[in-house]
Amino acid sequence: MPDQHFTNAEKLPPYIFAQINALKSEARSKGEDIIDFGMGNPDQPTPSPIVEKLIETVKNSATHRYSQSAGLPKLRKAIKDWYMRKFNVQLDSNSEVVTCMGSKEGIAHLALATLSNEDNVLVQSPTYPIHSYGVVIAGANLQSISLKENLDDFLIDVEENIINSPKKPKMIIINFPSNPTTQTVTLDFLKKIVEIGKKYDIWIIHDLAYADIVFDGYQAPSILQVEGAKDIAVEFFTLSKSYNMPGWRVGFCCGNQDLVQALTKIKSYMDYGTFTPIQVAAIKAINECDEEVNQICKMYESRRDELCNGLNRIGWDVEKPLATMFVWAKIPENYIDLGSLEFSKLLIKHAQVAVSPGAGFGIDGDNYVRFSLIENEHRTRQAVRGIKNFLSMEI
Ligand SMILES: Cc1ncc(COP(=O)(O)O)c(C=O)c1O
Repeated sequence: MPDQHFTNAEKLPPYIFAQINALKSEARSKGEDIIDFGMGNPDQPTPSPIVEKLIETVKNSATHRYSQSAGLPKLRKAIKDWYMRKFNVQLDSNSEVVTCMGSKEGIAHLALATLSNEDNVLVQSPTYPIHSYGVVIAGANLQSISLKENLDDFLIDVEENIINSPKKPKMIIINFPSNPTTQTVTLDFLKKIVEIGKKYDIWIIHDLAYADIVFDGYQAPSILQVEGAKDIAVEFFTLSKSYNMPGWRVGFCCGNQDLVQALTKIKSYMDYGTFTPIQVAAIKAINECDEEVNQICKMYESRRDELCNGLNRIGWDVEKPLATMFVWAKIPENYIDLGSLEFSKLLIKHAQVAVSPGAGFGIDGDNYVRFSLIENEHRTRQAVRGIKNFLSMEI
């Protein structure tokens, strides 16, 4: 048998969500109706103008050939226009924009393109796993920094970590509005982190996946709105959430030319780009579907209200997030010692409700579980009833 030393795969821990998925499948195979708030996987169809554009385009056989890895020029132009329209940010669509096959792919490949085993990278924790594991896969040294309720304290920790690090970090990866904590920031916060990046010559990667899923008048700022941010920063965005397009795999990375070009180069070796009809439909989405985005946002707002009001009513105190498609809920006091994985297992068993254990996003998340708002209001009410019964049981 060949040597079974799979260096990169072995660096990755067993997927904590797999244990919950296995329990979910087992319960379903017994005929139980599990209400699933687990994955951040939008449940609604992609808006029909986008689907129609795909169908129209796929009929043209010229689109069946290899596409362009960096993205069709018209798609990159649509992205550039989106930044101008939404954030008043000027970009050069040739050198400062690259599309990717979903932002997850882009983040992982940017890490691979830019890092080596001599590099330290600061990453907020808890966080969406590819922020940390992109660094690990690239062989670099991950330095997790706990998110604080007060994000000014987080900035202090970032700076202290830089100062005390045996080797100056090369990069900081942040994500606001944050998955899973749902924390949001002001432009002032982003200004401060750009200041830190510039002071110590450190690249900043910002993941803005939830730019559009915002509530109660909150607007999520882009790091590229900060004067001079392009000297050191790039930002990722995805069509998965705003346009209900998770399966289509379209995202993009914009900003600093050196980082964008490093990602463009490594991708040109690895892929031929997203299928052309999907890229053409993505142009339609970005240019013409702002109203559909508003409707999607309203849907999440209504689900958020149903879930948060319901949980608060039954005595599980949770905060209403100002953004994202998640509710980040501290485990009720009586159960907190169990940790998030065991508590999530109990929720499946006794409440028929699946959530993501907070520990899946980093050990800092272990006192929490994450609800994704992917069930409608009716199912959400049913889930709250199940949770109420469970919380009143003697276990
Ligand atoms: C913060 C964040 N970034 C990136 C992604 C990945 O999105 P994509 O579908 O573009 O790969 C997700 C998906 O849940 C996410 O929550």
